[in-house]
Amino acid sequence: MTKFVKRSEKFCVPHRMIPRYRSPFGFSTIVSGLVGGCFNISISSIEEAYANHFHMPYSVLLPSCRAGMSWALEINNASHKNVLCSAFNCPTVFEAILRAGSELVIADIEHDSFLLEHKSIKLLNCQSLVLSEIYGYTYDLNLWALTDSLPGIRIIDMAMTVPSLHHFQRLRRTDFAVLSFGTGKCLYAGSGGIGFSHDKNLVREVRKWRDKCIEKETLLLFIKHSLEILSRSIIREPALYGFYFKRSTLKRLIKDENDDGIILDQLDYVKQPLSKEWYTPTTYIDRYLMFYNLKCASGYIEKRIAIAKRYRINLNGVDGLILPPISSDALSHYTIRVNHHLRDKLIHYLFGMGIETGTLFFFSRLFNRRNFPNAASTAAEIINLPIDVRMLLSDVDRICNCLLEALKQVNN
Ligand SMILES: Cc1ncc(COP(=O)(O)O)c(C=O)c1O
Repeated sequence: MTKFVKRSEKFCVPHRMIPRYRSPFGFSTIVSGLVGGCFNISISSIEEAYANHFHMPYSVLLPSCRAGMSWALEINNASHKNVLCSAFNCPTVFEAILRAGSELVIADIEHDSFLLEHKSIKLLNCQSLVLSEIYGYTYDLNLWALTDSLPGIRIIDMAMTVPSLHHFQRLRRTDFAVLSFGTGKCLYAGSGGIGFSHDKNLVREVRKWRDKCIEKETLLLFIKHSLEILSRSIIREPALYGFYFKRSTLKRLIKDENDDGIILDQLDYVKQPLSKEWYTPTTYIDRYLMFYNLKCASGYIEKRIAIAKRYRINLNGVDGLILPPISSDALSHYTIRVNHHLRDKLIHYLFGMGIETGTLFFFSRLFNRRNFPNAASTAAEIINLPIDVRMLLSDVDRICNCLLEALKQVNN
């Protein structure tokens, strides 16, 4: 029986909460990194380990995925300024494109997927591409080849992915692929990102930008990152998470176009001060966890696939739910779609039952929803159910039972 610790007219926060995301490692992994030798892990050793693991010739450790994308675009920008990307995306991707001095060319997503509509490549005047692999769904990169009329660079944004070798085997010579270790990502490691390419010059130039833009790695920063990673890991233990939650936090779960926290006008992006993801270096503890994640990556993939499969088995055929496309890759969330009138209520009910869910991504105020009907409706209908590698399949069953109960309640 759920025991409630906070009450309001609208909802209660139970003691035990399944968080929307959790780090892939536990408290003991962080402690063993801190006491048992994270201090010899250099930037170049991480670059080498990731490049070898994914059979890529060159890689560059980044302060974040957004910074790497932006620098790669800027390096390529001389004559290829129009950059195509999907309207259903993380706002940091728009920011990365605009901060590179590029023109943002936005297109809709396919109606039955979370990825960019293929016809847009022919219809729109663009020279470069940012292909964000939303929730870990992958593009067939052969369909998105650069040509004489599309001569720029392809950025493959794998921030939400746990990649395997086949993700990298798709890359062409001038592609730049990025992974993220930032908050909420499948490969969370405290901070950072990493970029890969077959193009030695591109990686060398991105490295130069990195060395110019990031601050010095200090002992103080190491302590700060270690404390942040430890506290995130403790707080998100299901037995403790309900205590941590505040009512205001719930508001952040549900964002609409009036509450996207983003700038009204495209140019404003570049006028805002840079967030820390643009200049904060990784520290020893982040790099230790990056190594740990690399060692565990194939286990993470298996677990994520098993969780998505369990969701599908449990939710298949339920009235009022649209299940996401089946994928043979690891997904970051299990993203269902519901009637948009019911979506926020369902999220509240689930929260009251101890399940935190998400709504990634909202539809940005920068765009006209009539021009991007698939992205706009998807953004209003999605609920991201948690996938986390430390969850049990019985947690998935509990989430699904709560969802069925919540559907009954909202339909009454
Ligand atoms: C799809 C996608 N791409 C890129 C990013 C940016 O990643 P980072 O936080 O490493 O800059 C995010 C982040 O939130 C994301 O969701």
